[in-house]
Amino acid sequence: MSDTFQDTNLPDIIELQDISTSFDGGKTFIIKNFNLLIEDLPESGEFIVILGKSGCGKTTILKYIAGLTDPTSGRVLIRGRDRSHEVPISMVFQEPSALEHYTVLKNVMLPLLYRHVPEREAAERAMNMIRAVGLEGHELKFAKFGKLSGGQLQRVVIARSLIANPGIILMDEPNRGLDNDTALQIDLLVGNLWQQLQSTIILVTHDIDQAVFLGTKLYVMGGKPANIVKEFDVNLPFPRNRETRRSENFLELKNQVEDFMYSLP
Ligand SMILES: Nc1ncnc2c1ncn2[C@@H]1O[C@H](COP(=O)(O)OP(=O)(O)O)[C@@H](O)[C@H]1O
Ligand SMILES: [Mg+2]
Repeated sequence: MSDTFQDTNLPDIIELQDISTSFDGGKTFIIKNFNLLIEDLPESGEFIVILGKSGCGKTTILKYIAGLTDPTSGRVLIRGRDRSHEVPISMVFQEPSALEHYTVLKNVMLPLLYRHVPEREAAERAMNMIRAVGLEGHELKFAKFGKLSGGQLQRVVIARSLIANPGIILMDEPNRGLDNDTALQIDLLVGNLWQQLQSTIILVTHDIDQAVFLGTKLYVMGGKPANIVKEFDVNLPFPRNRETRRSENFLELKNQVEDFMYSLP
């Protein structure tokens, strides 16, 4: 796959080298020869999307980047160093993962409190983030179903993962299980916050619409065993909004990606 990756002088931010995954001691492989190089763009960050069908191994790959588990073989390098070094990465999981015995405010303050930011400053910064994700007025509610909707809970998780501005943010199908309208709201929010943060986001999804709408670069994961089978540049202007989704360029690329996805086994 080496022709997939351009060699530039930019510092490498994340590199997955020859990753493979077997859950049965090497009899069968879910992922094999997976290579991905994500480079840091000065002063903008990238919005990388890994698009693949359900079950192809997207969550598994994100867990490797997050350092939550290790591949069967292969290496994960973050800024040229292996995962034994602590790297500030935060992850938005597939299922809402707000801490339900804490309030919205406390949930969002937590990453700052861990870093010993004084309580008052942490609360102030958390409130700014809570406003940014549209949850003002809900800050003293407990972060659980019954008190908040699924979309609101996902906003809590997004606020919590972005507040410490970690540089690398991993997102696993952040609008899964939400109705279409709420899912679009979350996409708009994520795109908007990314533009302000200028971090590198890596989002995995099976949703072609979401992939084209948010990404600056799409990598399609497929095959059995899976690896990166195709790369698309997304040259749609920013800010992306509801108009973007109706534009000819959006629809053209979306159809192109869709045709490719359906041609996969
Ligand atoms: N810990 C595990 N043990 C055994 N099989 C697993 C484990 N984790 C994932 N799998 C299997 O690996 C495949 C890829 O899983 P996953 O990374 O969750 O896919 P995706 O996120 O793309 O839907 C699936 O078939 C899943 O059942
Ligand atoms: Mg998954």
